Amino acid sequence: MDEVGFLTGSVQPTDFRLKLTDKSVGYGTFIKVKHDVYGWVLARVESLKTDLDDFDEEKTIAKARTIGYFEDGQVLSPKTPFTPSEKAYLADKKIISQVLGLDQSKEGSIYLGFLENHDIPVYLDVGKTIGKHVSVLAKTGAGKSYTVAVILEELLKNKVPVVIIDPHGEYSSLCVENDDYDNMVKYNVQVRSYMEQIVEYATDTDINPAAKKFNLHANFTMEELLDLIPIRLTDKQKSVLYTALQDMDEDYSLSELIERIEEEPTKFKWKVLSGLDDLMKSGVFDGYPTPYDKIVAEGRCSIINLKGTAPAIQQLVVARLTRELFHRRTISRIPEVFYLVEEAHNFCPERGFGDVMSSPILRTVAGEGRKFGFHLCVVSQRPARIDKNVLSQCTTQVILKVTNPNDLKAIRTSIEGFTSGMEEEIQQLNIGHSLVVSESLNQPITVDVRVRETKHGARPILDEDGKITQPPRKPRPKPKTRRGSGGKQRKHRRPGFLRFLKRFFLKPPQK
Ligand SMILES: Nc1ncnc2c1ncn2[C@@H]1O[C@H](COP(=O)(O)OP(=O)(O)OP(=O)(O)O)[C@@H](O)[C@H]1O
Ligand SMILES: [Mg+2]
Repeated sequence: MDEVGFLTGSVQPTDFRLKLTDKSVGYGTFIKVKHDVYGWVLARVESLKTDLDDFDEEKTIAKARTIGYFEDGQVLSPKTPFTPSEKAYLADKKIISQVLGLDQSKEGSIYLGFLENHDIPVYLDVGKTIGKHVSVLAKTGAGKSYTVAVILEELLKNKVPVVIIDPHGEYSSLCVENDDYDNMVKYNVQVRSYMEQIVEYATDTDINPAAKKFNLHANFTMEELLDLIPIRLTDKQKSVLYTALQDMDEDYSLSELIERIEEEPTKFKWKVLSGLDDLMKSGVFDGYPTPYDKIVAEGRCSIINLKGTAPAIQQLVVARLTRELFHRRTISRIPEVFYLVEEAHNFCPERGFGDVMSSPILRTVAGEGRKFGFHLCVVSQRPARIDKNVLSQCTTQVILKVTNPNDLKAIRTSIEGFTSGMEEEIQQLNIGHSLVVSESLNQPITVDVRVRETKHGARPILDEDGKITQPPRKPRPKPKTRRGSGGKQRKHRRPGFLRFLKRFFLKPPQK
């Protein structure tokens, strides 16, 4: 066992100080201390401080928080303090896995990466993780979409139906194989493409040619049209629109509405027509409406790529799609689904940041979705700007680096049992490292998120027939060889031997 120090000062059951004798112990290191009554107890180093002692010797004092001990399948907390001056050791894999709840089976789980600073893979139970909605929150560039893609790869492997609201058109990268071989070896990940499971729809296929066209049926309500038309209409212009809408059949198209307004003998129609023309140009309302029934199916991942489409139309797409799919799920017409909303602050903003068309249905799904197996996942770089009713319903939180005080406050209020230590920690996280709070874990943990199987930031390449092809695989790096060793790596060569030779036999001439 690796001894790392001993307890010092007053000792409590929940936390204690430790005089370190091992300099490798850092922030987040798991240690174990033997308790007279409860046996081995797991603790985590939360802060460190180095000072000079009375003899001018360096001393490092660590503050550790007790996590608990494992007994009869349960994680319990010690009720009485440890013996003062008790020795502390580096925690072993068994106690860490048991107490944190990492000893999950690989089957039916999400392999997210390694426990930070430890060689312990983190597997999260699929059902418990997505069952009660998920939020992935972090400042921009901290690794949200990357982490989400890792979760999606795992869900697709488990044949969970997925729908992705993709405002930036970044998730078709799930079709493209990764070529970061070094990291794949490190995380024990295989190259893979999910091309066979993915159907990408796009509202604008001119800029997203690899996707199928996504069309909506026009039959707008008056409220929808007032939100969608980019110009502010006067009362007279609104009245032209309202009268025309009253005259339309139930299943009217946008061109029919335009034709109807063109017949109006009034000058107030022109502004209305110009607004409707803008809607026509979006291309979302012409063509055969996309059937909702095919979007959710076992093992299928439907990407709704909204790149290039105006925000109000994006919100209408999300409102209609969510409403239709949720309704179908409540009557069991489609299977359970993982419904991912990227840039969620634009689709269900916090009150005070405007109410948009998709807000009410996303609020309903957050509140009632879990009963029906409609699993929501919201992703955002502005937690403070997401509707708190939605955020607080997500009981699995994946939080990467956040520094904005308002965003930290929103996270603090949405997570039960959020501690000041956690708040400090998420401000210090490295890119790609995330704090995970989940029912499938006994404790919040920090994960070094694994490398992707598919290539982050890649767009699928189409062949002459319009089918997706993989880019030619990069040659895998060969093990490094030394020059002059005949291509084979020499074994048992002592490190620094060349430097030794140079120092004694190849000294530069003295001046
Ligand atoms: N787990 C990881 N492993 C390796 N690289 C990562 C990881 N996570 C993030 N990165 C790197 O960080 C970059 C930014 O990640 P990502 O695109 O996921 O950020 P984001 O939080 O979604 O940003 P935005 O707010 O702009 O959408 C990626 O291009 C990638 O290079
Ligand atoms: Mg992103």
